[in-house]
Amino acid sequence: MAEMRRFDGRVALITGGGSGIGRASALRLASEGAAIAVADINSEGGEETCRQVQTHAGRAVFVPADVTQAADAERMVAETIKAFDRLDVLFTSAGVGGGGSVVDLSEEDWDRLVDLDLKGVYLSSKFAIPEMRKLERGAIVHVSSIGGLRGMSGAHFCAAKGGLINLTRSMAVAHAAENIRVNCICPGYIATPIIQGILDDPEKLKRTGARHPMGRIGTAEEVAAAVAFLASDEASFITGAILAVDGGYLAAGR
Ligand SMILES: NC(=O)c1ccc[n+]([C@@H]2O[C@H](COP(=O)([O-])OP(=O)(O)OC[C@H]3O[C@@H](n4cnc5c(N)ncnc54)[C@H](O)[C@@H]3O)[C@@H](O)[C@H]2O)c1
Repeated sequence: MAEMRRFDGRVALITGGGSGIGRASALRLASEGAAIAVADINSEGGEETCRQVQTHAGRAVFVPADVTQAADAERMVAETIKAFDRLDVLFTSAGVGGGGSVVDLSEEDWDRLVDLDLKGVYLSSKFAIPEMRKLERGAIVHVSSIGGLRGMSGAHFCAAKGGLINLTRSMAVAHAAENIRVNCICPGYIATPIIQGILDDPEKLKRTGARHPMGRIGTAEEVAAAVAFLASDEASFITGAILAVDGGYLAAGR
């Protein structure tokens, strides 16, 4: 593949950039020219992502932030501007998964997950969009899940990820005239630390892979490729889109 440089001169803020899909996306966008602000609650992971970007001659800064806290969300955007003077792309990858029915889940379980997977996205967007307005352009990519479009274990997870899909649509409509595009990806099972329990058990891994028509789980790099497309000018007329990156999982309806 010819080398693409879709993000030369651009700046991306990636929440949850210290691991998994966020890290892979940081590396992908940086490889195409973006300067990256990595926001994460995990300093070790965030610093490591920055090191990896810098090893490949990219520019990256780590911003410790808990996206469930408004003051942190505001500060992570301010630090991005301080480091790189502008903000073109927001990728909201900070999130968790979890199982359990409404009966099993404690109120704390519910609040913790919904705060991160839904409110954290609202807060990150709230402070990023004013910076994009200054550029009269911007691209935001959210991460829902196959669990945002179908029922599966994790009532809080499905509620938050389903909410995130319609938050995407609402944001897309609200900011379309400002040339700020907002899209959402729905990954199937992806090999990252969030599913370590599956990755560590060959039988579970095989079963989980088999639930995807392509017969395997996905990689963080495959998701990052979709994120990069939606964040780039190649997607200039795409907003409010919900893109499955799931090896056919949703198409099969199983
Ligand atoms: N891996 C999958 O199978 C899969 C499938 C569907 C959706 N997703 C979604 O993709 C996103 C990324 O997941 P991943 O697989 O890369 O997981 P991951 O655990 O590898 O990465 C998540 C990152 O978010 C960070 N984080 C957690 N809480 C935070 C907070 N309060 N503030 C800032 N950062 C915080 C973590 O420290 C971690 O670095 C999540 O929203 C997840 O729900 C993942």
